[in-house]
Amino acid sequence: MKIIFLGAPGAGKGTQAEVVSKRFAIPAISTGAIIRAAIAMKTPTGVKAKEFIEKGNLVPDEVVIDIVKERLAESDCENGFILDGFPRTVPQAIALENMGIAIDAVVSLEVPSEAIVERMSGRRVCNRCGASYHVQYNPSKDGVHCDRCGEALATRADDEPSVVLSRLEVYHTSTEPLKSFYEARGLLKLVDGQGSVETITDRTLKALGV
Ligand code: AP5
Repeated sequence: MKIIFLGAPGAGKGTQAEVVSKRFAIPAISTGAIIRAAIAMKTPTGVKAKEFIEKGNLVPDEVVIDIVKERLAESDCENGFILDGFPRTVPQAIALENMGIAIDAVVSLEVPSEAIVERMSGRRVCNRCGASYHVQYNPSKDGVHCDRCGEALATRADDEPSVVLSRLEVYHTSTEPLKSFYEARGLLKLVDGQGSVETITDRTLKALGV
């Protein structure tokens, strides 16, 4: 299966992508995570992307398209994949079509802005393995260390409230139009993204016809 997860920042794309990826045994590819790793390693792409991500702006299309093209050429994507956070603009969606990839479904997780702000302020992440938690809704076992690798959890730099607001604005302007883009292609599945993580996984699987 080749699936795209759409949704506002903090809608739960990463959380659901991880669960669904295990279920179908296909990789979940987060462009945000790839970009953050590039920034941490100070690669040329990371250096280019840093100023955009820190302000809550999108990284330029050409940079992200090259990242995704390269990643999708890896052998673990042969039997399918989940794209978490790509495409995020109409030119990115067109570039994906031009790669000759036939997407099976586009799941849009629908969460109102008030709930988004609460989710982002409680998010804690592992900077070593990339796992994501929430202090209230999805805590790690001891609340301060990653369950997977034991690293101390941290907050994400772009979860600062003023940056969250610009990310939400960017989502509405640049990414939300993708819903009509994919609706026109008969691929869009709207999923209510409020409720427990398990409930949303059930709704997502149902929307995917599983
Ligand atoms: P990216 O890392 O993709 O960030 P995002 O899209 O803003 O999404 P998030 O990771 O913030 O949220 P999510 O929807 O994955 O939610 P999560 O599951 O973590 O991108 C970061 C930046 O990189 C962008 O701003 C941009 O600069 C750049 N970038 C990336 N891709 C790009 C592209 N294609 N083009 C250009 N630039 C790009 O959940 C959030 C929190 O809520 C967590 O704490 C979680 O535990 C909690 N939670 C999850 N589900 C629930 C639930 N059901 N109930 C309560 N809490 C929940």
